[in-house]
Amino acid sequence: MSFSRELKIAPSILSADFANFGAEIEAIEAQGADWVHVDVMDGHFVPNLTFGPPLCAGIRKHIKTVMDVHLMISPVDAYIEAYAAAGADILTAHVEAGPHSHRTMQAIRAAGCKAGVALNPGTPVEAVDTLLDMVDLVCVMTVNPGFGGQKFIHSQIDKVKRLRAMIGDRPIHIEIDGGVTPETAPLVRAAGADVLVAGSAVFKGGSVSTPAPYGENIRALRTACDTLV
Ligand code: DX5
Ligand code: ZN
Repeated sequence: MSFSRELKIAPSILSADFANFGAEIEAIEAQGADWVHVDVMDGHFVPNLTFGPPLCAGIRKHIKTVMDVHLMISPVDAYIEAYAAAGADILTAHVEAGPHSHRTMQAIRAAGCKAGVALNPGTPVEAVDTLLDMVDLVCVMTVNPGFGGQKFIHSQIDKVKRLRAMIGDRPIHIEIDGGVTPETAPLVRAAGADVLVAGSAVFKGGSVSTPAPYGENIRALRTACDTLV
């Protein structure tokens, strides 16, 4: 994984057919996905439950690009090893998940993964200032985490701009997660983001047997960014 600020589209499999993850992943990669975003929820940190480490290990075999695992769990430290062993390339933990986010970032890198830190919409960007020298990615949530298909929170755009300035020339990805559509994508791209997570906007209208809409949806996000940035 070499670093670049080129635009990357990371479909969230939260919007995939849950009975068919392997084929869904192969379909989105064939249709142009750059990364595969895996939303892990614990029913405690967020009001929803999704994927444990064995499921992640199972789908890993189908991912040829980058397995981007978003841990919306608290406590998080005790599970880092298991998700790393499941094959995550990037492990992102929330800064709000506990009092020791510095230790969490160290533990993620020690487990052999790229380290990401995520910020809820209500958390100021300054919360990650002292972590920037030990992370590979900052994820700015543009919805309150827990569910796909929510409305983009526009007040987060200014946060992305400030984060981009704070990062300077450090090789840190800025990822946007939640409510990304062809309308909102160019706003965050212009503000400095390079990774756009999109669930409903990628999977809508397609299926494993009819995957062409996945490609059209991914291209629509890219084109929207190309024309307006
Ligand atoms: C929200 C998740 C997101 C979500 C994005 O808790 O972290 O990754 O699936 O879904 P859309 O793109 O539908 O907002
Ligand atoms: Zn996510």
